Amino acid sequence: MRAVVYDRYGPPEVLRVEDVERPVPKEDEVLVKIHATTVNRLDVHTREANVKSGLAVSFLSRLVSGLRRPRQQILGSEFAGEVVAVGAGVTGFAVGNHIFGTTGIRFGAHAEFLCVPESARIASMPTGISFEQAAPLCDGALNALTCLKQADLRKGRRILIFGASGAIGTAGVQLARYFGADVTGVCNTKNLELVRSLGADRVIDYTQEDFTKNSQTYDVIFDAVGKHSFKRCKGSLNQGGLYLATDGFRNLFLALWTARFGDKKVVFQIPPRQTKQDVLFLKELVEARRFRAVIDRAYPLEQVVDATRYVETEQKTGNVVLTVSRA
Ligand SMILES: NC(=O)c1ccc[n+]([C@@H]2O[C@H](COP(=O)([O-])OP(=O)(O)OC[C@H]3O[C@@H](n4cnc5c(N)ncnc54)[C@H](OP(=O)(O)O)[C@@H]3O)[C@@H](O)[C@H]2O)c1
Repeated sequence: MRAVVYDRYGPPEVLRVEDVERPVPKEDEVLVKIHATTVNRLDVHTREANVKSGLAVSFLSRLVSGLRRPRQQILGSEFAGEVVAVGAGVTGFAVGNHIFGTTGIRFGAHAEFLCVPESARIASMPTGISFEQAAPLCDGALNALTCLKQADLRKGRRILIFGASGAIGTAGVQLARYFGADVTGVCNTKNLELVRSLGADRVIDYTQEDFTKNSQTYDVIFDAVGKHSFKRCKGSLNQGGLYLATDGFRNLFLALWTARFGDKKVVFQIPPRQTKQDVLFLKELVEARRFRAVIDRAYPLEQVVDATRYVETEQKTGNVVLTVSRA
C-alpha cells in the first residue's frame, strides 16, 4: 500500500510517499481502507519532535514517540474510510461500514490502509457527509470538548474563545454554543464572518481591538491557539473564572499553582482524556446539524509536504484534509 513515511525527526521534507506492507487486522481490529485523513498540529509537532517548544518538551516528545528515531513511521491520526476486513472477535463493525475516528498518538492514518481496535475512538460515519468532511471531525473537536467539559458551560455563562478560527477554535465555538454559553470569538479580520456563522454571539478582530482592554469580563477564557496567557487574561476573568489552555509548558505549573491558590484557575489537561463516547457524541451533533468540521484546503496524499508546510504557517482556518483514494 502507499503510505507517507518518515524515519527521522525534521522538517516537512523528511516525509515521503512509499510502498509499505499492508497491515493485517488482529482478532479485535478492523482493517480500514482510508479515503481521507488530515494533517494537523499533532502530526507537525510529532514530526519535528516538538523542537520549537524547547529542549525539555522536545525530550518528553521523544520519550513518547522514540528517543533517536520515530518508532511509528506513519503519521496521521484522523481518518474516514471503509471497513474492508474484520478480526474474528469484532462484533460492532462489518465489512462495508463507513467509519471515522482518530488513532491519537498511535497515528498510522497517512496510508491507504489502517488497522484499529474496534474499542478505539471510532464510530460509523454520520449520515449525509463525505469522507473528506468526516476525516477532520475529531482532532479539533475532541481537544475543544476536553477543555470545555471542565468549564461547566451552560446558559448564561460567558466564554471568550481566542483563536476561534483554528481547528480547536472552530470546534470550540460550535460546542460552546451547543452547551448554551454566550460566545465571543476572537480572530483575524478575514475569519470574522466564518466565526460568526459558526454561532459566536459576537466576534472581536484582534488586529483592531485588544479584548483585555475593553472592560468586558468572562466566566471562561479559552485560549484555543496557545497564543495568549493567563497573566494577560486574568483581568478579563470574572471571580472564579477559568483560563482553559491548549498549549504552553508554563500552563502546567500554573494549573497546579492556581488549583491551590487564588480565585481564578488555569485548566490544562495533559494528556487530554478523550473517549469513544465523545466520538459518538460528535456523530450525533453532526447528524443534528449542530456541528461541522471547517475545511480550509484539501491536498492529495502525494502532496503531503505542501499540506504540511501550509499547516506549519499556523494560519490555516479549521482543518487541512489529505485525500487518499476516491470513493
Ligand atoms: N490539533 C492538535 O492535535 C493539538 C493538540 C494539542 C494541542 N494543540 C495546540 O493547540 C493549539 C491550536 O491547535 P489548532 O490545531 O487548533 O491550531 P491551528 O488550526 O493551526 O490554528 C490556526 C489558527 O491560529 C490562529 N492564529 C495563528 N497565530 C495567531 C496569533 N498570533 N494570535 C491569534 N491567533 C493566531 C489563526 O487565526 P487567524 O487567521 O484568525 O489569526 C489560524 O486560523 C496549538 O498551539 C497546538 O499546538 C493542538
